[in-house]
Amino acid sequence: MNDRIYLDYNASTPIAREVVAEIQPFLTTAYGNPSSTHWAGLPARDAVERARSQVAALLCCDATEVIFTSGGTEANNHVIKGLFFASHSTESPFHIITSRIEHPAVLEPCQFLQSLGAELTLLPVDEFGLVNPDDVRHAIRPHTKLISIMHANNEVGTIQPISLIAEISKEYGILLHTDAAQSVGKISTDVESLGVDLLTVAGHKLYGPKGVGALYVREGVELAPFLHGAGHEAGRRAGTENVLEIVGLGAACEVSQMWIEDPRVVELREYFWQKLRAHFGDNVVLNGHPERRLPNTLNVSFRGQHGHDILARIPNIAASTGSACHAGTVQISPVLAAMGASIEVGAGAVRFSLGRMTTQAELDAAVEQLGNCIEL
Ligand SMILES: Cc1ncc(COP(=O)(O)O)c(C=O)c1O
Repeated sequence: MNDRIYLDYNASTPIAREVVAEIQPFLTTAYGNPSSTHWAGLPARDAVERARSQVAALLCCDATEVIFTSGGTEANNHVIKGLFFASHSTESPFHIITSRIEHPAVLEPCQFLQSLGAELTLLPVDEFGLVNPDDVRHAIRPHTKLISIMHANNEVGTIQPISLIAEISKEYGILLHTDAAQSVGKISTDVESLGVDLLTVAGHKLYGPKGVGALYVREGVELAPFLHGAGHEAGRRAGTENVLEIVGLGAACEVSQMWIEDPRVVELREYFWQKLRAHFGDNVVLNGHPERRLPNTLNVSFRGQHGHDILARIPNIAASTGSACHAGTVQISPVLAAMGASIEVGAGAVRFSLGRMTTQAELDAAVEQLGNCIEL
């Protein structure tokens, strides 16, 4: 297959050329342990701290507020379990507010804590996938310790009103976390403007390596360590730092500064959508918010179709579907279900996510192939 078309940048991204160039020397030099204070360790320590500053520059925070992790999943787990273990006791119950459309990397740790006695509220979303800040306010209990609402949804791209939710969390003195795995590098993730206390970064969503991420922890927020051992990452995450990938994450964050709100990607996405509409008319519908959406994300439903059947017929196009087929019955994605999508619309959903390397010619070819494989 030499006509491969990659439209799955929300699943993962290629490593940027500039990032590869930054990592490469570290394969052979700077092999010392970053904790060693001799000539071999110091360059590794410098590299880790430079990367920390690069992540901090993208998030507009202090470098001391950045912890490196093994990715978005760990960062989310660290927030949710770290706060629970730092503050839960029989005298002090623990209530978490989150939404029904969070990634499993938030929902699963929350449900795990529920099995340990935490209380959990899963907020609904509207037809566009938006959380209503009033619902957040009404869900608050005297012992609510954490509000965790994702910045942008991975499936439909809807961007949540985080700064409005932050006003509420501040009013009640409750910590606010946002899983920004999908938004970092695509839209602004300035932690001060967002007003969050904790924020998750995933390296492989922003043209960095897989298996590395970061967590922003506002100064003064107490989290129990995620990994116990020696005192790495200010005692919060033990284990010798993954220098190569941390260098890659830092470089990816620096490069990303140039790509925030990339107008070319928005134009291509709109071009793709208009072409799909021209071809399929009302048989294709947009999932997610028409405006408050990630610049690269186009989740559409082909009415009366099954997303996985469509993708199986065009294997050279890499895209995603949230629907699943089990024993002949179709289950629509929990995100679309939470948005109130009907089975007819939800089953035919396909997520196309564009990126830095996407071309108009690829989108033309994708529309043509979709047209050939979908019978109306
Ligand atoms: C919104 C969101 N959060 C968390 C994750 C998990 O990140 P990672 O793959 O780095 O563990 C993903 C990855 O798909 C995601 O889209």
